[in-house]
Amino acid sequence: MSNLELVIDAENLPPALRTLELPDALTPGALVPILDDEAFTLPLARMARQRREELFGRRIHLRGIIEISSRCPRRCLYCGIRAGAHQAHRYTMSDSEIMARARMLPSFGYRTVVLQGGEDPAFDTERLCRLVERITRETALVVTLSLGEMPPEAYHALHQAGADRFLLRFETSNPELFARFHPDSALERRLAALEALREAGFQVGTGFIMGLPGSTLEDLARDILFTVAQRPGMIGSGPYIPPEPGMLRNSFADRPGVFHRAMALLRILAPWAHIPATTAFDSIGGGGREALLLAGCNVFMANLTPEKYREQYALYPKKAATDTSRWHFLAVPSTLENLGLTVAGGAGHALVPPPQEVSNA
Ligand code: 5AD
Repeated sequence: MSNLELVIDAENLPPALRTLELPDALTPGALVPILDDEAFTLPLARMARQRREELFGRRIHLRGIIEISSRCPRRCLYCGIRAGAHQAHRYTMSDSEIMARARMLPSFGYRTVVLQGGEDPAFDTERLCRLVERITRETALVVTLSLGEMPPEAYHALHQAGADRFLLRFETSNPELFARFHPDSALERRLAALEALREAGFQVGTGFIMGLPGSTLEDLARDILFTVAQRPGMIGSGPYIPPEPGMLRNSFADRPGVFHRAMALLRILAPWAHIPATTAFDSIGGGGREALLLAGCNVFMANLTPEKYREQYALYPKKAATDTSRWHFLAVPSTLENLGLTVAGGAGHALVPPPQEVSNA
């Protein structure tokens, strides 16, 4: 695929977008008016859907996510399970609980399990490696991890143990904003961790949180281009939801179209990427995860966390309530069918992205 196909090329543009000059379409300044204009929501969603269908058809890859721990030593300001968050309830799942949930997946069309959690010291590298080995030995599942920053040796050991993929969002490409929201890390460190994941051999997923307080449309545009420039196999992104009442609002609160336009641009600019319709979209207006599945998204992550822990993995309020009955992991295939979609066969590994020709970072 040539780089030309990665830009919003004039021929495919809906009429409203045709005035854009290329290749300036790839600068943050050119994306801002697109992100800002409600009139672009539908044309972009249509373009995103077209791109999705060119590569993936109407097939949606299913992933089952198990939130293995709500304990975390980090104080990321936006996160409901950050260290010191008094309202947070803490749990650490046992290995046998995790295995029991994982075993439920394969017979229902799920080929991938995602283990996500806080950076819980109870899950040291040794224990995680044994767990990954056990899952790959005892089930037909591909293992994806989403467990935060670790030293390169730990990533290496986990990949050796049989984990194929790792999700680690960079959250924001603005270093000051990153520092403000992550008192225990720095953008440079996060990017080094992403590099270490690639070096360890993982299929890497990354992305960002949209509308952090203090962020602008320019930041959002930069985050989109930064994500694309990383050439990730998977892109996970979604709107910031204030974790507790009284906390600062999303910069684009009341404008859900902004997030949907951002998601569409991600698909248009990174056609190769696996892009899940993320849970946070069910907490804002604009049609929720359904709207995304009818636009550019091609992955659905169903929640397999045991019910008794679900309320406790509250990255933001009412997150557990987004697991409505139609998104129960058993119901997902028929919910998709009702949307005119089907469950994708195969493991759903990352596609090889085209080489990067221009850096937009
Ligand atoms: N609102 C939306 N997304 C959040 N995340 C954490 N806290 C919130 C929140 N309050 C996201 C982060 C993290 C992912 C697992 O969940 O982007 O990478």
